[in-house]
Amino acid sequence: MMKTFYKLLVVVFILSACEPSANNQQEKYNEQYRSKVHFSSETGWANDPNGMVYYDGEYHLFFQHNPDTTIWGPMHWGHAVSKDLIHWEQLPIALYPDSLGWIFSGSAVIDWENTSGLGENGVPPMVAIFTYHNRELENTGTDKFQYQGIAYSLDKGCSWTKYENNPVLPNPGIRDFRDPKVMWHPESEKWIMTLAVLDHINFYSSPNLIDWTLESEFGTGIGAHGGVWECPDLFPLQIEGTDEIKWVLLVSINPGGPNGGSATQYFVGEFDGHVFEPHGEKTKWLDYGKDNYAGVTWSDIPDEDGRRILIGWMNNWQYANKIPTSVWRGAFTLPRTLELTEIYHDYLLVSHPVKELNKIKLDTKEIPTSKIEEEMEINLKPEYPMEIDLSFNTGNNTAINFGERFGIQFANDKNELVKIGYDNLNKLFFIDRSNCGWDSPNQEFAGIHYAPYVVSSPSLDIKLIIDESSVELFAVDGLVVMTEQFFSNEKFTMISLFSEKGEVELLKGNISKLSSIW
Ligand code: FRU
Repeated sequence: MMKTFYKLLVVVFILSACEPSANNQQEKYNEQYRSKVHFSSETGWANDPNGMVYYDGEYHLFFQHNPDTTIWGPMHWGHAVSKDLIHWEQLPIALYPDSLGWIFSGSAVIDWENTSGLGENGVPPMVAIFTYHNRELENTGTDKFQYQGIAYSLDKGCSWTKYENNPVLPNPGIRDFRDPKVMWHPESEKWIMTLAVLDHINFYSSPNLIDWTLESEFGTGIGAHGGVWECPDLFPLQIEGTDEIKWVLLVSINPGGPNGGSATQYFVGEFDGHVFEPHGEKTKWLDYGKDNYAGVTWSDIPDEDGRRILIGWMNNWQYANKIPTSVWRGAFTLPRTLELTEIYHDYLLVSHPVKELNKIKLDTKEIPTSKIEEEMEINLKPEYPMEIDLSFNTGNNTAINFGERFGIQFANDKNELVKIGYDNLNKLFFIDRSNCGWDSPNQEFAGIHYAPYVVSSPSLDIKLIIDESSVELFAVDGLVVMTEQFFSNEKFTMISLFSEKGEVELLKGNISKLSSIW
């Protein structure tokens, strides 16, 4: 009898260890600016996505989290899971700071072959590889305060045990030594760790996730170096329409982004298990908006699915600690599929919102096709969140006098507005949030932010995902991406199409309401 009681207790404990809080979800996520289709922590501070791994029907999303306040501080790994990459359930904190330090960014893998020996009874361990940041050591003036540790879970990420001989990769005397992203490299039958080290990358290999050997360094003299390199990711990707595989290296950089502050650059090249060799020297950006940082991709997505899926932190260190949200601070981008395309002998990343987003499209209304001169209000009451698809005529054979800038505008009665569109004079996509309501104390938030692209096709297609306080722009079928937040004092109630100093023709337009994920 007693035995059964204890067994039951264990079962109840295991179940409740991973249960989301029972509060009414609707009530919780109704604050001003709260994202309705993007994950954000119920309360507290959140930055980088961490440890994304798929296991047994669940996409895990861990994240940098300070549970006690809405500003950055002692870092934990918060935890959420989703069965469809759209609806998220926040679970109890996965990793707490300990005597070795705060838990900074990192990754997670399923150690299917139990190379680490941390698995039990045929259950492969879910292994998290992260940076310990030791504040006390930092305060002593040494450079050796960041090093890599591991922890493992045998119950689908519910409870975690820190490895007893941490750190697994001690600090060699380098200040910035962090954000390990680990993957299995089948050709060399080794784990590869991609680590951000000052303003370059170190690659390490390991047979067991515990013993690591330095393989090579990458990054000196190539790419953007306006700030420290952080949160890298390395993965293979097939070039669309071919059987050819290239390796993509993502590297976030702060500051030094194309529109100021934080952003993510990428390199495309070859990787042989030891060395990464880039093709070309040009700096490429994953997203030109100011609010997509530290994005990395999911590990262990099943082969049948085969997608490479990224999620980023929808924020920028320039003002991340100041944005005017309430009990929470820091949302994430939509999960996006990454594809690789070859254009004029260059390899470029293409991003799309994951197809699962279509599941929450409620109804689609057409915007009548029209010629737009100056401004044309769309006669639809905007309902947030929403997806908007627009196709503009850019054909050279039309006799139209193209506007210098054209696009779509969201505004309220307080004269606050956000404009999104194409600057035809300078050949740039833009998001203009210079008058959107809120600006950061140092004025890095307001402004017009640009993404270069010369449109040469007869039409220009734009997809927008608009949430309560963010816009994601996917143009030219995902080749140009911009993610930005906005914080208007009142909701934008008017949507209009505009064309400045000339006209533009709308060939097709749709607005779909999206249902809240909470
Ligand atoms: C990137 C970053 C990482 C670090 C983490 C700390 O945003 O600075 O390099 O691990 O945030 O929260």
